[in-house]
Amino acid sequence: MTTAIIGVGNIGSGVARHLVAGGESVVLAAKDEPNAEALAGELGPLARAASVENAIDDGDAVVLALWLDTIKELIPQHARLLEGKVVIDPTNPIGFDESGQPIRTLPEGQSAGSVVAALLPAGAHYVKAFGTLSADALAAGAHREPRRAVLFYATDDDTAATTIERLVRAAGFDPLKAGGVADAGRIEAPGGDLHQFGLNGQLVDLDQARAAVAGEGSHER
Ligand SMILES: NC(=O)c1ccc[n+]([C@@H]2O[C@H](COP(=O)([O-])OP(=O)(O)OC[C@H]3O[C@@H](n4cnc5c(N)ncnc54)[C@H](OP(=O)(O)O)[C@@H]3O)[C@@H](O)[C@H]2O)c1
Repeated sequence: MTTAIIGVGNIGSGVARHLVAGGESVVLAAKDEPNAEALAGELGPLARAASVENAIDDGDAVVLALWLDTIKELIPQHARLLEGKVVIDPTNPIGFDESGQPIRTLPEGQSAGSVVAALLPAGAHYVKAFGTLSADALAAGAHREPRRAVLFYATDDDTAATTIERLVRAAGFDPLKAGGVADAGRIEAPGGDLHQFGLNGQLVDLDQARAAVAGEGSHER
């Protein structure tokens, strides 16, 4: 299986590093292909760079490690190629105002996941994942001892669930389903109770994560 990672910034590069460390093949694409080539060169033989079009074509799963506005442009351009793919969406509805303060970019109650899922062709297998931690925490949190940290995901699709569980484990985390696409907002920031920022910055283990999904609030707040 090959995972295409479109975008090699904070999140895309972190996901790529963890997957390659876990023995997964990745194909990397960016706006400027030399950025993808540089990361692929650093990661070695399990990684290669390609154009966005070729990366999507080659990937069994496609991680859209892009800002939401970019995704809105990119999906219609590549809709045909996304048919049948597992599409992994780490976006948060977050932007920054003129003073650098984070702001919500979608109306309250509307998740980035619902926006991205609605843009995809009917044959794509959508899952929200890999965006539930800050990029720094994602980079540092793999293979935590004694208990792995959890990465939550949200999907309505069994094929996507099977794939994301495998990739999250390969990346050095425990996967846990937070719900379907209707629940994607719970694992997004700002506002999601299961996003790292909704968990007081904590990375939770599987027991804590299950309790949090059930709304038991057993994690420290
Ligand atoms: N940063 C975080 O802590 C964090 C945490 C959770 C979720 N997220 C979410 O993850 C997503 C990515 O965030 P990020 O911080 O990783 O962003 P980033 O560091 O700014 O990286 C964005 C990447 O997108 C690529 N790109 C831009 N336009 C493109 C296009 N038209 N075609 C292909 N690639 C394109 C850029 O290519 P170049 O390299 O060539 O410029 C870059 O590699 C966002 O939706 C964000 O909400 C971020």
